[in-house]
Amino acid sequence: MNLGKLRLGVNIDHVATVRNARGGMYPDPLRAAKMAEQAGADGITAHLREDRRHISDADIDGLMEVLTVPLNFEMAATDEMQAIALRHKPHAVCIVPEKREERTTEGGLEVAREENKLAHFIAPLREAGCRVSIFIAADKRQIDAAHRIGAQVIELHTGAYCDAFADGDFAKRDAELDALRDMATYAHSLGLEVHAGHGLTYETVAPIAAFPEVQELNIGHFIIGESIFLGLEPAIREMRRLMDEARA
Ligand code: PXP
Repeated sequence: MNLGKLRLGVNIDHVATVRNARGGMYPDPLRAAKMAEQAGADGITAHLREDRRHISDADIDGLMEVLTVPLNFEMAATDEMQAIALRHKPHAVCIVPEKREERTTEGGLEVAREENKLAHFIAPLREAGCRVSIFIAADKRQIDAAHRIGAQVIELHTGAYCDAFADGDFAKRDAELDALRDMATYAHSLGLEVHAGHGLTYETVAPIAAFPEVQELNIGHFIIGESIFLGLEPAIREMRRLMDEARA
């Protein structure tokens, strides 16, 4: 099976994290987004959190103005975020779970338990022309529910796999990889487009990039961190190279 080139979405949230540490204008996430485009990013991902801890409303306004690649707008399933998405109509909206006290998006969305509510929530987004993606764990129950509510895309949460890798727990790493592989195949068989992301690094990206059903990876924290050492464009180009190598 060949589903074509694997897309790389660069998540620029943590450029805004550094900016907000001082409350000023630098570094500018929009400049990072434009540079990411030049380095070969196929899309830009930004998460407007309810507490605005990194990306701001003004950043989203700016991204919608300056980007020539698609914006993947990550948001919680709240009325406020839905209104913002409907105003901007980004290429894609990725619905993520959000907890105030978490440091990052810890788990996937509980779709199965909230099926009716989420079906109503995403319908206007789809009608507005956004591709709706649901960020979920590699769990068949959640994939079935995402399919039933009418999502076009699922993004598989790779955090547990990356954590197991970092902990040196190779049995768990392999089990997580098996689950991700099986669920990518399953979701694709239902007609869902499959994305993946969270916690991916140069060391963990290859096995995920090699899954033929996965069409997009969204990667942020590691790339922004690595750009301190390499510069943003080389950091992105290296991720792109590793993805292409794994795909081949
Ligand atoms: N995909 C989703 C849905 C996310 O919430 C995040 C984190 O914001 C990412 C991908 C990127 O994760 P990381 O910053 O760890 O690469």
